[in-house]
Amino acid sequence: MKIGMLTGGGDCPGLNPAIRGAVLRLLDYGDEIIGFTQGWKGLVEGNTEPLTLERVEGIIDQGGTILRSSRTNPFAEGKEKQLQAVLENIKKFELDALIALGGEDTLGVASKLYHRHGVKTVGVPKTMDNDLDKTDYTFGFDSAASVALDALDRLRDTARSHDRIIVVEIMGRHAGWVALWSGIAGGADYVFIPEVEVDLDACCEHLKKIYARGKTYGLVAVSEGCEIPGAQASENAPLDAFGHPQLGDIGIGPAIAKEIERRTGFPTRDVVLGHTVRGGSPTLFDRILGTRVGIKAAEMVHQGAFGQMVAQQGTEIVGVPIEEAVKQWKLVPRALYDEFLTTFNK
Ligand code: F6P
Repeated sequence: MKIGMLTGGGDCPGLNPAIRGAVLRLLDYGDEIIGFTQGWKGLVEGNTEPLTLERVEGIIDQGGTILRSSRTNPFAEGKEKQLQAVLENIKKFELDALIALGGEDTLGVASKLYHRHGVKTVGVPKTMDNDLDKTDYTFGFDSAASVALDALDRLRDTARSHDRIIVVEIMGRHAGWVALWSGIAGGADYVFIPEVEVDLDACCEHLKKIYARGKTYGLVAVSEGCEIPGAQASENAPLDAFGHPQLGDIGIGPAIAKEIERRTGFPTRDVVLGHTVRGGSPTLFDRILGTRVGIKAAEMVHQGAFGQMVAQQGTEIVGVPIEEAVKQWKLVPRALYDEFLTTFNK
């Protein structure tokens, strides 16, 4: 078979292990694999790179994606020509199937191509945000949370030396998994996530309480997707091709730091980790998960499991309809957040 492969949306560690896993398994079937560069843009423009054994064998430890990425959306309003080009290129390159590695947006395109145009697609979920439904984990999350954890550990040292609060803003657009997991593991004193309304009173009361019992510094983790109602306007942020606001510039971390200092009088600094958490070598967990889902995607192509994405459920790697996975976000359950915060609240 002739199989196309592309990576779309924000990159994350684990993409290269997944590409490698899929290519190695497809080679067992004697397939030819064509990589399309920069996500759907590569399929629109017909930009390719052959994915051979030699190309993928040494990439398991590399962050990012060798295929490069973009947020091109051929189903965006007014982009009918792009969609036409995608369909023409699928014919021109004689693709028997297409493996799309991406988050909700990229997989949404793969699902529409299958249901509306009969393109034989298989999805591989990736997102450092870990907010894609129907899969327990996506690769990229463990690596990103590990980078955030390392940053929190470093910032604790300097916060303690200077008797300061440090507010750390961490990527996470709709879901607070990365901020919550790294915040818990990094011993943060308070964590804000997008699923729960920002309660500055509660945070400041808690910080005053820990100072009153003798602690002289504090760490606060905040997801970039949080908003202080009225104080910070996400509606003014620029939008990407899928209509999502670009959040880094809104500055929730700095806004919270300013409020904490104003309300408590404790010297406070802020650090925005931004894209740093998306870089670096994939962790062991993400290398294994990436490899397993890549292999499974190749097998699903040969089983004819189209319109489906690979998912981790428990310890199994299974196929689920993409449509089901992109219907809603996998958010942090309120009870889980409350459970952790209650434990911190000493
Ligand atoms: O891929 C998800 C994500 O990392 C979000 O956490 C973040 O808001 C967004 O991507 C940033 O997008 P970009 O790389 O386009 O600035």
